[in-house]
Amino acid sequence: MRRKLVVGNWKMHGSRAANAQLLAGLKEAGPWNADVAVCVPFPYIAETALALTGTSIAYGAQDCSSHEQGAFTGEVSSAMLADIGCRYAIVGHSERRAYHAESDQLVADKAKAALAHGVTPIVCVGETRAEREAGQTEAVVKRQLAAVIHTLGHCCGEMVVAYEPVWAIGTGLTATPAEAQAVHAVLRAQLHAATDRSGVMRILYGGSVKADNAAELFSQPDIDGGLIGGASLKVADFAAVCLAA
Ligand code: G3H
Repeated sequence: MRRKLVVGNWKMHGSRAANAQLLAGLKEAGPWNADVAVCVPFPYIAETALALTGTSIAYGAQDCSSHEQGAFTGEVSSAMLADIGCRYAIVGHSERRAYHAESDQLVADKAKAALAHGVTPIVCVGETRAEREAGQTEAVVKRQLAAVIHTLGHCCGEMVVAYEPVWAIGTGLTATPAEAQAVHAVLRAQLHAATDRSGVMRILYGGSVKADNAAELFSQPDIDGGLIGGASLKVADFAAVCLAA
């Protein structure tokens, strides 16, 4: 009943030439049975939009401002993202939480700003290795999600959630399907208490998803697709993950 969603997060990779090749390859490789999107660096969004015209591949950004507009040098508003046709904005990625000191509340405010302009926020939550080892996984992801639910109110049913255990990102370590499913079930239950849309909301898994582990992860009852980093940078790898969804 939930259509799978696979989102490529290019992070700070790419160039005009490399992107053109990657997007042309994806156009040829698709379409797939899942919804597919790429979240690209800000300077490349416009060209990505052009390259994907006429395809079913959506595109988006990797962040957005919590502010509407104004004197916020370096920020990009969700109105701008909407203006340029973005369907998604990733918010609260662990790299932004860690390297840019983004708080749970700031992430929630960004999600709210995105939704206000019809851009679907992909809200990332996830525990560090130390938190997992201390048995805090559930408490951490619930705290991160609670801030967003509280801020969005009844609109929280419109977001996409991504569970990304920090220790699995870019490390080659992946949560086992059972480990990931357990956390997804916790998140689904939390959403269930907040919105009657919990059954149709998509909860993505991210963290070293590759062609050879995607199918098993995506077959878990509460895993509705993936947020893909490294494997989204090569046509064959990303296409294989999309095919597995
Ligand atoms: O946003 C994507 C995640 O951070 C996962 O990255 O697939 O390279 O581990 P990764």
